[in-house]
Amino acid sequence: MPKAELHLHIEGTLEPEMMMALAKRNDVALPYDSVDSVRAAYRFGSLQDFLDLYYIGMSVLLKRQDFFDLAFAYLERVAAQNVTHAEIFFDPQGHTERGVSFDTVLSGLTDALDKARREFGMTSRLIMCFLRHLPEEQAFDTLAQACRCKEHIFAIGLDSSEKGHPPSKFVRVFAEAARQGFVAVAHAGEEGPPAYVRDALDLLGVRRIDHGNRAMEDPALVARIVREKIPLTVCPLSNQALKACPDLTVHPLKRMLAAGMVVTVNSDDPSYFGGYLNANFVAIQEALGLNRAEIATLGRNSFLASFLPDADKAAALARFDAFQGKW
Ligand code: ADE
Ligand code: ZN
Repeated sequence: MPKAELHLHIEGTLEPEMMMALAKRNDVALPYDSVDSVRAAYRFGSLQDFLDLYYIGMSVLLKRQDFFDLAFAYLERVAAQNVTHAEIFFDPQGHTERGVSFDTVLSGLTDALDKARREFGMTSRLIMCFLRHLPEEQAFDTLAQACRCKEHIFAIGLDSSEKGHPPSKFVRVFAEAARQGFVAVAHAGEEGPPAYVRDALDLLGVRRIDHGNRAMEDPALVARIVREKIPLTVCPLSNQALKACPDLTVHPLKRMLAAGMVVTVNSDDPSYFGGYLNANFVAIQEALGLNRAEIATLGRNSFLASFLPDADKAAALARFDAFQGKW
């Protein structure tokens, strides 16, 4: 099925093999001595457990070539899964904090996106996330860097530790980003309460909610999300790995679809959570017994909820409908 991926952290595609290889190439010390010991550490009780490893993992990324290698490996892999468009998060503060320049990160990533467009016809957007555990002041510094490279960065997002770092902490920087022409999205309702989802909409002006699972606890919020057609980028294997839901068999995705929400399936940090986009589709289909119509809705939603320009979106939807007609 042709599809778009809308919730993918490029640093979360760092496979243990590449982590070890880059550690060697860049002479970076890691607390692991083998691929197996990296994999053995992938047991998470919460979002924070994962983030602690995620920031250690990304410490091997130092040079433009490293960011290129990371991103191109992801793009090549999902091109083979019929992902025709990808909207990709990156966390510049995870790198600039370590002394890697913003331009090193961005140039490596855009090199890879350009190559994927040439070689696979894959289109893409970059979404720059602010790390919400850091002060808003530092997000402003990061936004200033992005303003020098507007042609390469379509949207801004908000990720990292959700609890205790509500959307209200970032109102001013999101307002300035909107003035600068950036579209906004935010992680909300992954671990945080439904109020964080509402605040992301009302205070940050986001066009999509990343995750949004806990919105399901608030019927009025669900009704609003349906009415306003606000897409949710849901990540089943991530939710299972980080214990956002106890088991995929009780995952809210089917209820979200039944409620009429514009939900999409995504992989979040596939190297850490046990599978890329197709694996997420297979796992959630099996766990919830999704039927063909539900799977097709999820595929179609991925283009509908994308930030493709209108004409490209219409073309992608027409191609999707033609595919579905033959399916
Ligand atoms: N950074 C990378 N993956 C994330 C997630 N699932 N939630 C919050 N921050 C993240
Ligand atoms: Zn995420």
